[in-house]
Amino acid sequence: MNKYTGKFFHVVTYGCQMNVHESEKIRGILASLGMLETDEINDATVVVFNTCCIREGAEDKAYSNIAALKKWKAEDDSRVIVMCGCMPQQKEGKYDLKKKLPIVDIIIGTHNINLLGQYLTRLAEKKEKIYEILESPTESMDIGNCIRDDKINAYVNIIYGCNKFCTYCIVPYVRGREKSRPIDEIYKEVKDLVQNQGYKYITLLGQNVNSYGKDLTDKTTFSELLTHLCRIEGDFKIKFMTSHPMDFSDDLIKVMKNEPKVAKTLHLPVQSGSTAILKKMNRHYDIKQYMSIIKKVKRAIPNISLSTDIIVGFPGETDADYLKTLKLMKKVKYDQLFAFMYSKRKGTPAATFDNQVEDYIKTKRVNNLLRLQKIIQKDQLKKCFKKTYNCLIKHINGVAVGITDGGKEIYIPNYQFANQNYFANVKVEDIRNHKLSGVIDE
Ligand code: SAH
Ligand code: SF4
Ligand code: F3S
Repeated sequence: MNKYTGKFFHVVTYGCQMNVHESEKIRGILASLGMLETDEINDATVVVFNTCCIREGAEDKAYSNIAALKKWKAEDDSRVIVMCGCMPQQKEGKYDLKKKLPIVDIIIGTHNINLLGQYLTRLAEKKEKIYEILESPTESMDIGNCIRDDKINAYVNIIYGCNKFCTYCIVPYVRGREKSRPIDEIYKEVKDLVQNQGYKYITLLGQNVNSYGKDLTDKTTFSELLTHLCRIEGDFKIKFMTSHPMDFSDDLIKVMKNEPKVAKTLHLPVQSGSTAILKKMNRHYDIKQYMSIIKKVKRAIPNISLSTDIIVGFPGETDADYLKTLKLMKKVKYDQLFAFMYSKRKGTPAATFDNQVEDYIKTKRVNNLLRLQKIIQKDQLKKCFKKTYNCLIKHINGVAVGITDGGKEIYIPNYQFANQNYFANVKVEDIRNHKLSGVIDE
């Protein structure tokens, strides 16, 4: 028994999959204190904000949502607010958190989330606010008993941190240097998730999964890790994110093509269609190299679903640079695209670059780009006609639906199903109102 046993907690998460998974670890820590989860902030004793600072908007959102709890906090002094993750880890964040958010009891960064249980105990004993930002991880961030959100797809960390230092990006400053998990540890976790917990998709996580193993003494490569994990017995598939084009190897394409357990989907952020901008971004590849990867991947895996990230309005981006991005989109034809307006991050090189692009131009460019992507996506749907995809079969409102590796839904009308959550081939037979339907293709 402790002060928290039997009380409720609530976790609010901002940012990427890495943070989503870290929040699953946080839930595990809080449950191990004997706490229960609630969706209602008003019922909670402990509220955790796991924050993101990739763009200014992410910071503003977390800040205002925490500040809005002033009255909630004042109503009951046993209530605890925790702020953790990337936002407090910044050296030059937008807000002076300690000063501006006095209602927060515990402020920690990204390197000590695993110690949250100890911090809460200390807070209960000493009744003193805790502000602890570490320069690097103290011990393993791999916490065994995490409570996962999803019952079908499980996130598994394979590498922490980033060594790339793209000039616009705050991640290397708030997540530290690359650190791979040993292959045996990952294997054990995946095996347990698949064989004991029934997970159908395993998503391997890293800021740059292709860097996996470079820091390990045995120098295991990402392709070797994937191949090894595919030997685990069971009806499951493996996804991964994110890949950096610079480290994308031919070996990996081979593994993706030859291993049925590797999902046929690839997120390969390009960021810009202009080689001059890519150079200023410090991305270490040019458009010719990027296109050569895309061509090879499409040739090896014709049904592959491709997605990307694009930043518009990077300092110095001209109309001509921007048009090159649109041209690239038309060539690649992504199934999904995430577009962002460049956001100045203090402490990163690009924040001091000349020729910052005005906001109204960024807005115009992003809207225009998304309009084009909508057209491309509609066109991509048409290409599914008569094609067969290996899908996860689910029930949605009593109808069987096949979910492709890339996340497209194919309705299977009149299909008699007894169970769900298994893989089967589905052939697309009809496309109407942007909806796919098909039949099981044995
Ligand atoms: N490690 C991954 C993704 C990191 S962040 C990768 O390298 O691809 C996710 C996306 O946010 C990036 O791909 C980029 O498109 C976007 N992003 C990062 N910093 C940004 C900034 N300062 N302004 C706008 N978008 C940014
Ligand atoms: Fe950021 Fe670049 Fe690292 Fe991705 S590879 S996290 S964009 S610095
Ligand atoms: Fe945001 Fe941190 Fe992820 S800055 S995008 S939560 S690594």
